[in-house]
Amino acid sequence: MQAGRRNFCETAIYILVSLVAAALGLPAGFYLFASPRKNLQSEWADAGDISNLPTGTPRQITFLRNRVDGWSVRSAKDSAWVVKDGPENITVFAPLCTHLGCAYHWDSKAAVFACPCHGSAFDRDGKVITGPATRPLDRYITRIEGARLWLG
Ligand code: FES
Repeated sequence: MQAGRRNFCETAIYILVSLVAAALGLPAGFYLFASPRKNLQSEWADAGDISNLPTGTPRQITFLRNRVDGWSVRSAKDSAWVVKDGPENITVFAPLCTHLGCAYHWDSKAAVFACPCHGSAFDRDGKVITGPATRPLDRYITRIEGARLWLG
């Protein structure tokens, strides 16, 4: 009778310990080994309808981009400079100067992208005309679906 009670207590303790280990271990294992949410939408941002953008004149556009940080997905406002030379001939530049990251603008009189911080200038293709910037403007990867522009 004594051995039966001891076996019962040992079995109950093992079951309780197993339940506690499972309760702690399953969430920890899921956290460690499950891959973060793959949100392919976050890699491409819908920059909007570009059918009304003028041909030949760079225009700055703003759009929302999803930023994936581990498990959270946040939407943040972003901008880009679009140079449209035809319905399928689009070049899109990141909005920051490649020297030290200031926001540049299109100077329509001089027909250059001009950076106010240290005087760098870039042509319509993003090439450096005047330093101190040494490399061309960064470009977005683009995809056009109908009239919508997608930026990678
Ligand atoms: Fe543009 Fe320096 S940040 S020239």
